[in-house]
Amino acid sequence: MNTPPLLEVRNLQVHFRVFGGYLKVLDGVNLVVRAGEKVGLVGESGCGKTTTMKAILRILPEPPAQIVGGHVLFRGKDVLKMRPQELRRLRGRGISMVFQDPTAALNPVFTIGQQLGDVIRYSHSDGRVDAGQIRLKALQALKEVALADPERLLDSYPIQLSGGMRQRVCIAMALATQPELLIADEPGTSLDVTIQDQILRLLHNLVVERNTSVILITHTLGVVREVTDRVYVMYAGTIVESAPTKVLFANPMFPYTRGLMQSVPRLSGGGVAEGIPGRIPNYLNPPTGCRFHPRCPHVMEVCRHEKPPVFTVGEEHYVACYLYAS
Ligand SMILES: Nc1ncnc2c1ncn2[C@@H]1O[C@H](COP(=O)(O)OP(=O)(O)OP(=O)(O)O)[C@@H](O)[C@H]1O
Ligand code: SF4
Ligand SMILES: [Mg+2]
Repeated sequence: MNTPPLLEVRNLQVHFRVFGGYLKVLDGVNLVVRAGEKVGLVGESGCGKTTTMKAILRILPEPPAQIVGGHVLFRGKDVLKMRPQELRRLRGRGISMVFQDPTAALNPVFTIGQQLGDVIRYSHSDGRVDAGQIRLKALQALKEVALADPERLLDSYPIQLSGGMRQRVCIAMALATQPELLIADEPGTSLDVTIQDQILRLLHNLVVERNTSVILITHTLGVVREVTDRVYVMYAGTIVESAPTKVLFANPMFPYTRGLMQSVPRLSGGGVAEGIPGRIPNYLNPPTGCRFHPRCPHVMEVCRHEKPPVFTVGEEHYVACYLYAS
C-alpha cells in the first residue's frame, strides 16, 4: 500500500459570514506536501493563502469562518474531524506555523522563557519533561536561531527585543517542538528587507538541516525560486497552477501566473503585474466559471460558465485553464 503524503488538502471550501451574506473565499483548494518537501504558495494579497493555512491547523475563527467542504489529511488522518486531544498533538509535533507579524504572535505580558517553555511543555503531552530540561531546550532553541546571550533573553519581555529578534524567537518557538511540517506565512514581511532576507535564509538552513517539510508563503518570488522544490499558484481561492519550481519559472502557463512572473518582485494589494489590470474579485458574488475570467486576456465563452478542470501539461505540472484542454 502507498503511504499517504504528509499533507493533502482536498477540495477545501471556506466561507466567511459577513453582513450582507457569505464571502465565498476558498473555492476547492487542492494541495499536497510530501515528507521533506519545501513547497511555495504564491498569489496576490487576499487570494486566501493565510485562510488555507489556518484551516489546515484548525485555527480559523469559526464563526465568522465556516469550513463548508473538503478534507485536510495529515498522514492520512482528517484534521477537520480530529478531537481536541488529536488536534493538540497535531499542533505540538505535527505542524507549526510562523506568522507574518512577530509582535502579534508573542504575548507582551510573559517573558520569552515562559512562552518558549509553554510551547516545549505543550509538545510533551505525556508530561515527561521537567523545568530544568525545559530551560535547557529553550536555550538550545534560541541558540539555533543565532540569538546572542540566550540566558538573558529567556528573562526578557517581547518589548525589549527588536523586530528581527522577535521574529527569530517566533521561529525558535515554531521549531522547538520539532514539527514535521512548518508553515511559514510571510515571515519577516513587517521587517526591513535585509533582516527579512537574513530570517528567510536562517529558516531555510534550519529546515534543510532537519529535513522538515515546509509550506512557504511569500511575495518575494526570488526567494521562492531559491528555496522551494515545488510551487502552488493561487488566484481568488483556487489553485490555478502547480509545478516543480524550475518548471514554473521557466514555463508558466496559467495566464495569471505569466503575469505574476513578469511582475515586480514585491507584490502589494493593488493588483499584480502591469500586464494584468484589475483586482481580485468580490467574494460576496465571485465570478462564475473561471474566477480569473474578468481579467483574462484569453477568455473564451466556456470560461464564463464552467469552472475549468485541472489539466496535466507536464511531469507534475498542472493547470486549471481551458487553454490547455487536450
Ligand atoms: N476573519 C475574517 N472575516 C471575514 N473575511 C475574512 C476573514 N479572514 C479572511 N477573510 C477574507 O478572506 C480573504 C482572503 O484572506 P487571506 O488572509 O487568506 O488572504 P492572503 O492570501 O493571506 O492575503 P495576504 O497576502 O494579504 O496575506 C480576504 O480577502 C477576506 O475577504
Ligand atoms: S480558463 Fe479561460 S478565463 Fe480562465 S485563465 Fe484559462 S483562458 Fe483565462
Ligand atoms: Mg496572508
